[in-house]
Amino acid sequence: MRAAVYGAGGSKSHELVVKDVPDPKPGWGEVRVRVRVSGVNPTDWKAREWSARNLPWPEQIPNQDGAGEIDAVGEGVDPSRRGQRVWVYHAARQRPNGTAAQYTVVPSAQAVHLPEGISFSQGAGLGIPYLTAHRCLFGDGGVQGRTVLVSGGAGAVGHAAIQLARWAGARVITTVSSEEKARIASDAGAHGVLNYRDADFREKLKAAAPGGIHHVVEVALGANLEAMLPALAPHAVIWTYATEEKDPVLPVRALMTNNLSIRGMLVYGLTAQMLEDGVRDVTAALRAGALEPLPEHRFTLEQTAAALDAVKKNAVGKVLIDIP
Ligand SMILES: NC(=O)c1ccc[n+]([C@@H]2O[C@H](COP(=O)([O-])OP(=O)(O)OC[C@H]3O[C@@H](n4cnc5c(N)ncnc54)[C@H](OP(=O)(O)O)[C@@H]3O)[C@@H](O)[C@H]2O)c1
Repeated sequence: MRAAVYGAGGSKSHELVVKDVPDPKPGWGEVRVRVRVSGVNPTDWKAREWSARNLPWPEQIPNQDGAGEIDAVGEGVDPSRRGQRVWVYHAARQRPNGTAAQYTVVPSAQAVHLPEGISFSQGAGLGIPYLTAHRCLFGDGGVQGRTVLVSGGAGAVGHAAIQLARWAGARVITTVSSEEKARIASDAGAHGVLNYRDADFREKLKAAAPGGIHHVVEVALGANLEAMLPALAPHAVIWTYATEEKDPVLPVRALMTNNLSIRGMLVYGLTAQMLEDGVRDVTAALRAGALEPLPEHRFTLEQTAAALDAVKKNAVGKVLIDIP
């Protein structure tokens, strides 16, 4: 099969080449997916840059997310899954066969039936962003009737969080830094969209949530914590899922006196049950027509390196690779 690969040791081990490699075979409990579209996330370029020299196997095919059809099943998997349209998550998590290839092999549960009418392109954008957004929203129970703040509402996780929160019956306020991003966040269904660079952002945030914000999905805790504090309701919970250059200093007194919580979240550490809950709800939201894809940037398999670079350079929208 054709695949993009990096690795094989040496100082240039992060270099990506597209070449012929042997087709992977599904083992016990696994399925093989003929990938049609590979979705790129920040984790994919970070893995390439940070782990290429320390791979536990000679070569790595990048990208966790994708979509396609199951074309072969291993022992222990219902053979009727053959031919099923699926979206794939965690394909490169502790595995050599990511989705930037004609075939990938994953445990059966990581190839999720794609509801009718949902395109491979949308499916390839679900994995990391939606499973992350789902846990950050529902990790403490439901958000129905709650006011949710989603920082960075035009980002992949932020965009997913707005739509899942709306689907679950929350009132959603989101932040962006430009008009273009404001349109994306607004199209996703946010009730309020604020520019966090505005001089009077704090006042606007407080005014947008007169009853206080109950729940936060946060992409930049250190940058935003101080400004959001006056707008938080007592007992609010902040879910933080991204790192910044420097760890923030926490305002312990304000957290204590208002009974506020900060919770960390890493999608690779979710339990099987948490992932199953995410898959169930994402599928229900797709079936309900509640999820729209981000604007797309499309690349060919030969352009995989450029696709990863586009994500690293903060492309606005979803970066996708068409697999031949
Ligand atoms: N913990 C996990 O399991 C997990 C899972 C997925 C992603 N992540 C990490 O989360 C980060 C975002 O991922 P993504 O896929 O959503 O990336 P993305 O699509 O590039 O979106 C990032 C968004 O954050 C916004 N942003 C940056 N600084 C901000 C600030 N101070 N306030 C509000 N918004 C801000 C950006 O827009 P502006 O700069 O224009 O505001 C951008 O829209 C990455 O670092 C990724 O590695 C972690």
